[in-house]
Amino acid sequence: MLSKLVLIDMPATVLVGGFWGDEGKGKIVSHIAFSDKPKIIARGGVGPNAGHTVEAKGKKYGVRMVPSGFVYEDARLLIGAGVLVNPAVFLHEVETLGLSERMGVDKRCSIIEDIHIEEDKGDSHLKEKIGSTGTGCGPANRDRVMRVAKQAKDIGELGPFVTDVPLEINEAIDRDEMVLVEGSQGFGLSLFYGTYPYVTSKDTTASMMAADVGIGPTKIDEVIVVFKTFPTRVGSGPFPTEISQEEAEKLGIVEYGTVTGRRRRIGLWDGEYARYSAMINGATQIAITGIDKLDEECYGATKWDELTKRAKDFLERVEEDVRIPVTLISTGPGLEHIIDLRDNIIT
Ligand code: GTP
Ligand code: IMP
Ligand code: MG
Repeated sequence: MLSKLVLIDMPATVLVGGFWGDEGKGKIVSHIAFSDKPKIIARGGVGPNAGHTVEAKGKKYGVRMVPSGFVYEDARLLIGAGVLVNPAVFLHEVETLGLSERMGVDKRCSIIEDIHIEEDKGDSHLKEKIGSTGTGCGPANRDRVMRVAKQAKDIGELGPFVTDVPLEINEAIDRDEMVLVEGSQGFGLSLFYGTYPYVTSKDTTASMMAADVGIGPTKIDEVIVVFKTFPTRVGSGPFPTEISQEEAEKLGIVEYGTVTGRRRRIGLWDGEYARYSAMINGATQIAITGIDKLDEECYGATKWDELTKRAKDFLERVEEDVRIPVTLISTGPGLEHIIDLRDNIIT
């Protein structure tokens, strides 16, 4: 049995990826949104290089700019000042998903322009060596650091959405309302702590996500780090537990990137790296996705007792490796495919 955890409530929660991105943060965020009913769901992270997949009510969505918690219709949706905004991608998502009434963008978000995308796609160092997503994020963050970038408040079409994100969030926290902050990318892609130079253009740890949306470190209650049973990586760079494509196929694991369509490299569970990632993220809880990839008999399980011995042994090993309680176990891509151990928690 996994360890018990005492949770009173979790007003300010940050959720981040523990490996190299694509851990299934979108799926876990949408589950937490429907079960915990946050008043605000805010996005931190780099920008539209992210692709979050959410499957809810029989539909599959891929979002790059808006928070993946959008499927929970009662939350205000915000994009923090640290995030790069591509206005065309943002406006397209807001329009097609019908989010205009509840969406806000911090006035200080930096803007990705066409010239950034051209540079990202044309520069052989970024495109070929690093294997960037070609979405303009690296060049746009460079211009931000050089202090020549445009901000959201300068873009007319963003006018109706522009707001002060930290003010909205901190006022909500002071009223004891739940705020869920979702990160993008993953620990191994952090500019500070990842596998430099094969990383993204910003830190990706929980502290960064809090700073992105303007929450000070003393106000964060919970940090959930999402790991997948078989870590994946897209683009170049070290991946210590990587297996060959043939081995992955034998295990039935083939994945493609949401933004670039590139085939994801697959690896085996890396307990040492997971523990290091959880340490720097200050994890208080762990979510694990892809238990059905470990053992297909577990597909769709919603209770601990429905898991096979193999899956239970694996999850116990994860807790031993990381030394943080596993509270959420995803057993398939759908919103309903989840075991929420917080339900059994003594409050
Ligand atoms: P990034 O911000 O790019 O890191 O996105 P993300 O963490 O939201 O993950 P992404 O959607 O890119 O990739 C995760 C994939 O795994 C998606 O296709 C999900 O639908 C799928 N997924 C999530 N949880 C599970 C699970 O428990 N089992 C299976 N089989 N698939 C899952
Ligand atoms: P960039 O962020 O587009 O500059 O890409 C830098 C590196 O980060 C490349 O290896 C990308 O494949 C990787 N990367 C960036 N965003 C994501 C993501 O959301 N999921 C997975 N990998 C990503
Ligand atoms: Mg992704």
